[in-house]
Amino acid sequence: MRIPCFAGPILGLGLALALSSVAADEIAIVPNPASIERQEGPPFAFRTSAVVVAAPGDRDAQSAALMLGAMIERQHGIKTVVQKNIPQPHAIMLSRANPALPSEGYRIEVKPEKVTIFASGPAGFFYGSVTLVQMIDKRTIPAVTIDDAPRFRWRGLMLDSARHYQSPAFVKKLIDAMAMNKLNVLHWHLTDDQAWRLEIKKYPKLTSVGAWRVPAGQAPRKDIDPKTGKPRLYGGFYTQAQVREIVAYAAQRAITIVPEIEMPGHATAAIAAYPWLSAIADPPRAVPADWGIYPHAYNLDDKTFRFLEDVLDEVFALFPSPYIHVGGDEVEKSQWKASAAGQARMKAMGTEDPEKLQAYFTERIAKYVASKKRRLVGWDEVLEPGLPKHAVVMSWRGIDGALKAAAQGHDTILAAHPTLYFDSRTSGRPDEPPGRGTVISMKDVYAFEPMPEKLSPLERRHVLGLQGQVWTEHVRTEERVAHMTFPRSAAVAELGWSNPGRRQWRDFLRRVSAQFPRYEAMGFPVADSGFAARATVVPAEAGSQSVELANGFNYGEIRYTLDGSEPTAKSPRYEIPVKVAPGVVLRATTFDGERRISNPRTLATDPAHATRRASQQLKLCSEHIALSLEDDAPLNGPRAAFLVDIQNPCWIYEGADLANVKGITASVGQVPFNYQIGELVKQIHFPKPATPEGELEVRLGCDGDVIARLPLAPAASHMGVTTLPTASIAPRTGRVNLCMRFSQPALEPFWVLDTIELAR
Ligand code: ACM
Repeated sequence: MRIPCFAGPILGLGLALALSSVAADEIAIVPNPASIERQEGPPFAFRTSAVVVAAPGDRDAQSAALMLGAMIERQHGIKTVVQKNIPQPHAIMLSRANPALPSEGYRIEVKPEKVTIFASGPAGFFYGSVTLVQMIDKRTIPAVTIDDAPRFRWRGLMLDSARHYQSPAFVKKLIDAMAMNKLNVLHWHLTDDQAWRLEIKKYPKLTSVGAWRVPAGQAPRKDIDPKTGKPRLYGGFYTQAQVREIVAYAAQRAITIVPEIEMPGHATAAIAAYPWLSAIADPPRAVPADWGIYPHAYNLDDKTFRFLEDVLDEVFALFPSPYIHVGGDEVEKSQWKASAAGQARMKAMGTEDPEKLQAYFTERIAKYVASKKRRLVGWDEVLEPGLPKHAVVMSWRGIDGALKAAAQGHDTILAAHPTLYFDSRTSGRPDEPPGRGTVISMKDVYAFEPMPEKLSPLERRHVLGLQGQVWTEHVRTEERVAHMTFPRSAAVAELGWSNPGRRQWRDFLRRVSAQFPRYEAMGFPVADSGFAARATVVPAEAGSQSVELANGFNYGEIRYTLDGSEPTAKSPRYEIPVKVAPGVVLRATTFDGERRISNPRTLATDPAHATRRASQQLKLCSEHIALSLEDDAPLNGPRAAFLVDIQNPCWIYEGADLANVKGITASVGQVPFNYQIGELVKQIHFPKPATPEGELEVRLGCDGDVIARLPLAPAASHMGVTTLPTASIAPRTGRVNLCMRFSQPALEPFWVLDTIELAR
């Protein structure tokens, strides 16, 4: 039997790598520059300090010189002096003497006696500096000439700060990681049903009310705040001063922050703060904690439009971005249909179709945005007849929105679900943090082509670029945002920047893994899931097991120890399956030569391990709404994550060997069912329970006989994960597919399988 069962470190810890330098003959830049030409001769070597020089009248070059100096000092510990433009021997010069370079392009010439970064503007100087800093190795820079410029002008990442809040300090770290890979747009999703995160001076309740909620679930409901005597509120918001600082921080790194203020749907938090914004008489008065699509939309009366314009005025003042995102996705029209303003508007438009109202709404807002010399960006639902030509369409429902938008003469950005949705798990490993159940590996992202083939040459000009999105319903912590965004966003950076003809997966793996120490130095724990070792345990002769090691990307060398110590580049290299006695602790780490490119993983080879499966190692019976969900308890400390299809909670243990198995045990959890999924909720069915609390049913195949029932009573009053008593089974032989479902009297508590184990 093959048993995948490699336990990882605590979720979200990321890499703890020592900062190691990249060998000079191994230039490792992501995104891959357009051209790197090695030159004859010795490298440029720093003397006691690095001298960076820019012309006195050139403010772009001057500020780039200061940034470059700071990067050299911080990343390489080389003292730096920034000077005005007096001819300097042995200096790094920032020069505009090559004016034909495109605005983000740069040229680097490294000669033994001098380094020059040529650019025509601030972004080019910054990108040249980023590349240069990444080539420094042991106080030298190899003699090269680099010519570089991006393929697309929009290389983005969307951060959802509404569903979960991230601190300003973390947002800056994310900006640092983006800058390192020449990503240039941070699309900041600041408002949604579950929170409003941006201070608006004219409407203070947007944040005093709208930024706070009681999280879903039993544990948060029981977590009473002594100050109020009520459940503690979760949340936070960004003051205007913080936003200005973050916007300036991003601008110094050639990143534009495009704010998103969602309208007309995904508006519940604002409506809870100011109920008169609602199209219905009795809207929610508190910010809700369900995920999914709420029916609440902004009203269509003039007072509500004035509110939205007031909000946008403050947004324009805070964000110099030429683009302003106003959402527009997933708008439920039922409340408009029933409202006086909606009825009046439909009458004026001569329609009875409330779907038509979205076009009216978008056009009105687009006109306002245009009157302030900005361009509206919306999710692809905004693409309706009458959308002003200057509006930009963000294609999220696959690439169809982009195809239609470009055909109609709109600029468009590829933000395509599922490949560019970075709330999906990065791997199927059991140590993967929660997220959408679908696995989108970095390899899947790297294979995405941002220029849809179907577009004509003329239409192609409308593709501004692409971006990854990190929605955060299931990404609760900052560490996990880091894990979900990078290194997948490094793949986005390469797709958006580099010549597609030079795309090469294994070379990308070499270069991207060389970035890991750089992210680590930023305190930004990226995902090593595709590089980390995973184990398959194969029973060998009596009393021992044989362990096969591999990793997701099939890259690098896996080295291991059997004494519990941490593997080094000198530890035995895995080549053939390793025989281990039960109880031995095997640790394995992936290296690329001397470079460690994954965290160590630990495998405890106790006999129970061989037949235990976590939910992530089971097959889901269906994948209607597959999610890896986090427990809501304990409030502090590690929590379990459960892989489940919430529309059909049912798991299959494939090929279970029942020889000598005397019983079945399982650990189970309960998660809040906090999903606005409309009518779909009626399609969730459970087998009839035999006891008041219900049972976990184990069948021989999903349509076969029940072979074990594990009563849920011991878990009913226990938050967190409970191990149920073993249920005996009749002796059997052979391999079967075991199918597990919960029989339960109601939707809540919503039971989920944590692990299942065959007891011998
Ligand atoms: C979206 O995922 N609703 C844009």
